[in-house]
Amino acid sequence: MKRIAVLASGRGSNFQAVIDAVGAGSVPAVIVRLITDNPNAFAIERACNAGIPVTVVDFDRFPDRTAYEAALLEAMRECGADLFVLAGYMRILGARIVREFSGRMMNIHPALLPAFAGLHAQRQALEYGAKVSGCTVHLVDEGVDTGPIILQRCVPVLEDDDEETLADRILVEEHKALPEAVRLFCEGRLVVEGRRVRIR
Ligand code: GRF
Repeated sequence: MKRIAVLASGRGSNFQAVIDAVGAGSVPAVIVRLITDNPNAFAIERACNAGIPVTVVDFDRFPDRTAYEAALLEAMRECGADLFVLAGYMRILGARIVREFSGRMMNIHPALLPAFAGLHAQRQALEYGAKVSGCTVHLVDEGVDTGPIILQRCVPVLEDDDEETLADRILVEEHKALPEAVRLFCEGRLVVEGRRVRIR
């Protein structure tokens, strides 16, 4: 059994998808902790309902970014996780954290990377006029949404889409892609060769 910790900042629907997959027995893992930077995140309620311990590292309570990152690093070390899943974690992780947990941190992004990295990916896809978009699960490196790609799933962009309808369609795929990537990691089936992640 692998030990998973999840980092989430808000609604936590991707976190819930991982909770459900673990609960259904399709991922050989135990979720040992939710770490959040937001004391009001709905993800906290989801963790409590599932009996998962929560650590709040509230960004606003630290004098600066360095102090915040030190506390976050400490919280991450403490939970002794094999894998850290960024599920709607809205802060960029500092180089020290990325280096320490390199190869065992994954993130879900609501676009087909390398297109539309960063914030408001669904809006970016619409404004660009893309005809397809989707989601990407990738390993975390020191860039913003630049790490090696584990899985992607596509959706069409429809004529009358707005940001919300497109985001909803992508979210359905996120909820499949993230648990699947977590499962592959936990089964030891991901082999990283440079930028390519091979699935054994
Ligand atoms: C998702 O669209 C995820 O791809 C992005 O932030 C959103 C989080 O949604 N990084 P939720 O909190 O998992 O519901």
